[in-house]
Amino acid sequence: MIPMPANEKPHVVLGVTGGIAAYKACELLRLLQKGGADVQVIMTRNACEFINPLTFDTLSGYPCITDTFNRPERWSVEHVALAKWADLFVIAPATANIMAKMAAGLADDMLSTTVLATKAPVLIAPAMNTGMYVNPATQQNMEILKARGVHFEDPSTGYLACGDTGVGKLAPVEAIAEHCFKLLSPRRDLAGLRVLVTAGPTREMLDPVRYISNRSSGKMGYSLAEASRDRGAEVVLLSGPVAIPAPQGVRIVPFVSTQDLLEAVLSNAPACDVIIQAAAPADYRPAEVAGQKIKKQDGEPFVLTMIENPDVAATIGKQKKPGQTFVGFAAETEQVLEHAAGKLVRKNLDLIVANDVTKPGAGFDVDTNIVTLISSDSRKTLPLQSKRDVADCILDEIMKLRQA
Ligand code: CTP
Repeated sequence: MIPMPANEKPHVVLGVTGGIAAYKACELLRLLQKGGADVQVIMTRNACEFINPLTFDTLSGYPCITDTFNRPERWSVEHVALAKWADLFVIAPATANIMAKMAAGLADDMLSTTVLATKAPVLIAPAMNTGMYVNPATQQNMEILKARGVHFEDPSTGYLACGDTGVGKLAPVEAIAEHCFKLLSPRRDLAGLRVLVTAGPTREMLDPVRYISNRSSGKMGYSLAEASRDRGAEVVLLSGPVAIPAPQGVRIVPFVSTQDLLEAVLSNAPACDVIIQAAAPADYRPAEVAGQKIKKQDGEPFVLTMIENPDVAATIGKQKKPGQTFVGFAAETEQVLEHAAGKLVRKNLDLIVANDVTKPGAGFDVDTNIVTLISSDSRKTLPLQSKRDVADCILDEIMKLRQA
């Protein structure tokens, strides 16, 4: 737990929606108070079926706001007042319904009205039946909210109140509280730095309709760009073709092929203090790009000649200026640390992030990663964690190297 300084009492509005996990919001409230926060609670009508508002009145020291008790004509005053009062808005547990309303901008009760009006950061901790959670409607609503900068403390997997076992269990309240305190005291340690992040796969064209690519989703690079932005850096994100939402507040430069990436890096890197090469370029490209769609030769094997692409990282490594910190990645399937350490030297990197992509929870298309951070004089293996948390650890290491 990160305690808040005693002289500043941050204001937290805790929204509680109708789910069996509503009782856990009492414990969350206590943890937030123990960490130094002043907490007011808004409950939805359905939440009041699971837990009595009197409990929150007593614990918070404020009258708990509910739609049952407050006459609707008072909303216009109270929702604005609370929306302005909040330094942080946390909804725990959050149902599929409140997320759908937020995604659509609906404001038909005190909680949805207040959260729509607030300018404070919003953290959502969903809890629901697995079927509801994995439903594409819920997943899409969460994507919309994430793209708008709403923070999430993802549910865990376990035995659910409905008798099913699966994802949808409210995250541990300690983790939610920890996340709240992180949002309340954001680090600005990258303020004044320019960070270049490359992310995603390349496409090496074969003909006008076909290409060769790889399984990179861009998630690790995007998390690094978001974490750098949140810690105060000015961020340029060079992005290959990916299927994830563009982060707000960073300059995005798209690329398609490895050669495009090289050009974009060469024109943007000289002005940057930190360069993170998280993209997955192709080592080879087709020797020729056919002008027309290649036709099938019945019965004949198709032979493709590939030629070597430039090594973007090695090129930047050669041109690295004093004061620049250069970070690369090594996604390996065997002899992970040895291969990565070799690339650290060969590409003149300051830090390499090595991961074994065969491990469950690491590598492509997942939201988590397990990595080892290797520099010339240290090796640090991190536990399985979200790509966003991995990103923060990488930035911590970069800042340590810059201060050394
Ligand atoms: N890299 C690059 N340009 C390339 C290939 C790789 O900039 N043409 C970068 C990657 O973005 C990564 C680092 O180099 O940061 C290591 O990439 P990887 O594919 O693991 O290394 P390679 O040098 O291609 O070695 P190999 O494919 O033999 O493992």
